[in-house]
Amino acid sequence: MNSILPALLGLTLMLSRGQALICQSGTYETVRETSEPPLEWTVGAEFCMDGWGCQDSLMLVENGPQVLLILTKGCTPKEDHEARVTQHRKGPGLSVVSYTRVCRHQNFCNDLTTSLPVWSLPTSAVPGSVRCPVCFGEEDCESAVEVTCPFGHNHCYNGTLQIRGDGIFTDLKVQGCMSQRACNLLNETREIGALSVNEKCDSVARLICDMGIMLQMKEDLAQNPLPWDTFLNVTCDLNEVCQETLLLIDVGPKSLMVGSKGCSKTETQNSTTISIHLAPPGVLVASYAHFCSSNGCNRATSSSVLLNSLPRPAVPAPGDLQCPACVHFRGSCSNSVNVTCPRGTTHCYNNDLNLQGGGVSAVFSIQGCVAQPSSSLLKHTKNIGQFIVSENGAVSVHCLAWVVGLGLSLTFWCGIISPLTPFTHDFSPLLTP
Ligand SMILES: *[C@@H]1O[C@H](CO)[C@@H](O)[C@H](O)[C@H]1NC(C)=O
Ligand SMILES: *[C@@H]1O[C@H](CO)[C@@H](O)[C@H](O)[C@H]1NC(C)=O
Ligand SMILES: *[C@@H]1O[C@H](CO)[C@@H](O)[C@H](O)[C@H]1NC(C)=O
Ligand SMILES: *[C@@H]1O[C@H](CO)[C@@H](O)[C@H](O)[C@H]1NC(C)=O
Ligand SMILES: *[C@@H]1O[C@H](CO)[C@@H](O)[C@H](O)[C@H]1NC(C)=O
Repeated sequence: MNSILPALLGLTLMLSRGQALICQSGTYETVRETSEPPLEWTVGAEFCMDGWGCQDSLMLVENGPQVLLILTKGCTPKEDHEARVTQHRKGPGLSVVSYTRVCRHQNFCNDLTTSLPVWSLPTSAVPGSVRCPVCFGEEDCESAVEVTCPFGHNHCYNGTLQIRGDGIFTDLKVQGCMSQRACNLLNETREIGALSVNEKCDSVARLICDMGIMLQMKEDLAQNPLPWDTFLNVTCDLNEVCQETLLLIDVGPKSLMVGSKGCSKTETQNSTTISIHLAPPGVLVASYAHFCSSNGCNRATSSSVLLNSLPRPAVPAPGDLQCPACVHFRGSCSNSVNVTCPRGTTHCYNNDLNLQGGGVSAVFSIQGCVAQPSSSLLKHTKNIGQFIVSENGAVSVHCLAWVVGLGLSLTFWCGIISPLTPFTHDFSPLLTP
């Protein structure tokens, strides 16, 4: 580079009266060891058309022990922008980072001469359990070495990157570790400065999952398992996994079970989560969420996958409080009958629960006895498996108790409990496997 610059500067002087710029120009493609020091390169020069600027476009794909670097410099019609470093896909495992810049303030202003701005030392990631072949290759990946993937990066990527640009025409086979089972190494990126990028993965098969919705409202759904069959198979998108989600709300005399099976875009791959959002005495709210990544893996056949994990409290002694108890579609709880609440409950809950996602869209009215004054049954949980749930904002907490025989004033009893007291009993950690 040092030998080129004086000559280029001479040119600059000659041409400085014109409008057109001279830019650094060139392309560079290489695969290196991640542990090597940042790379430097020498450049050529290019006379631009009137009005065009100078650009730097550098793309780096890190892949375990190796890193792929692709650089193009030259003239561009694009608008000026400051140097920009973008992390398209985070590592560890396969990661993609780029540096782009467009400038016009002087000749040769696209003066990136080293990979330093995007070069990072190999990270010491916690190893996981999955091993994947890792390679960059022109024709095939026969030279792939197998490495233990970083924790959480349990999917072997196997695809071809197509990179096109000024002087760049590259189809490169890539194998490595990814956090997602998807053909999406580029994380939707299609353009990196003057480079256009694309990927193809023949060998990522789409998952086939069971699909269907279940909705039941009747007595004792917390005790009696429901069959959970679906009669449809669905082929998911490339970046989707299978899911099955169950939500149970039991207000005592009545209960609601909503279930959904299908595909999910979640980043979670294999996981089963059982949560008790609200435990007895009073209203019980519990859920089961399973994400998995093999064909037909969301095939639980009954709600016992949730019921078997529920506490089995002894039948509680009746308390002194009476509340309306109802669970139904919104609008159907207005004439609900009072029940005697179990001992230990202190408040009547009455709110709407909006449930969306996994093919379900419904608003339920829920009334029942609870042990804490709160407008939230779900402690402000927003995601339950594939469902997105929300409750109405604050609702008035009715203190309907009359304290038999003690002569305590009801208003006094309610007055000492702040309706804003958050729930303090969290049973879910005890029950999550
Ligand atoms: C994918 O890109 C989005 C923004 O475009 C970013 O928020 C997300 O973290 C990226 N995903 C990964 C795995 O890097
Ligand atoms: C998830 O579980 C399925 C079936 O048990 C298995 O085939 C798949 O490899 C697992 N995926 C991960 C990321 O552990
Ligand atoms: C990667 O995909 C190619 C087809 O594109 C296939 O021939 C090869 O066996 C796959 N390799 C692995 C390790 O899955
Ligand atoms: C769904 O796919 C499984 C195999 O993955 C098959 O056993 C089952 O019969 C299919 N069900 C329907 C309704 O096609
Ligand atoms: C339920 O009990 C409360 C408190 O005693 C009372 O105000 C309300 O009228 C009762 N509702 C019905 C439908 O009986």
